[in-house]
Amino acid sequence: MHITAILLAAGKGMRFKSKTPKPLVKIASKPIIIYSLIALARNPDIKDIIVVVNSENKEGILRLIKTYRIRKIKGVVKGGEKRQDSVINGLKALDKRTDFVLVHDSARPFIGNDIIASLIKQAKKSQAAIAGVPVRSTVKKVSDSGFVEETIPRKNLWEIQTPQVFRKALILKAYARFGKKEATDDSSLVEKLGSRVCVVPGFYSNIKITAPEDLIIAEAIFRRKKSLCKK
Ligand code: CTP
Ligand code: MG
Repeated sequence: MHITAILLAAGKGMRFKSKTPKPLVKIASKPIIIYSLIALARNPDIKDIIVVVNSENKEGILRLIKTYRIRKIKGVVKGGEKRQDSVINGLKALDKRTDFVLVHDSARPFIGNDIIASLIKQAKKSQAAIAGVPVRSTVKKVSDSGFVEETIPRKNLWEIQTPQVFRKALILKAYARFGKKEATDDSSLVEKLGSRVCVVPGFYSNIKITAPEDLIIAEAIFRRKKSLCKK
């Protein structure tokens, strides 16, 4: 079984508002991108990692890959304007032997082998598996003028994260057909094909570093994880 991970790091980090490119900003003592690179490289089913970068962070990321001796790097490719364009560039670099593709946002540093392995196991059964957690907040649809239109029953609402794992043929077909349509994740393009996608319960701590305050939360999650390991 040949699984290729595409690790996305080509975003501009506009909402993060830092001089240092977001993937290179440190949580505790390590740059954000290193956490997911280490986790992906450790999984025995993942044979290749393709890192999608931009011109501002390419040199820094290449340096980190060397410093941390990250194995399995198959390619470091440039991303595109939108997240989807970056995924397309990653897909172009896949090894022919790839059976499954795992897509992950480097902005989510707290993935562990537990979630990676469960997603891979589920994708082997159902072709497509994505990580998610049940929505905890009340969700309302609000009009552009700021008035509540509807309170959406929370029962079956899930907040979807990455990683997302797909059989190669499925994700290639989804991107070939719908890659130019608006989407905030890869699964939604696969869903457009009419394919079933299984949601694997993930972790609330699998946060995405989006805004500066997320760093404070990330430091706290990191400290908690560290102390759990010591027990
Ligand atoms: N991403 C990417 N290429 C893009 C846009 C996003 O590879 N053209 C990646 C980001 O690097 C990130 C992930 O997709 O790992 C999720 O995106 P997000 O959290 O929105 O990060 P940014 O796009 O960098 O941030 P912003 O939207 O605030 O500019
Ligand atoms: Mg973005």
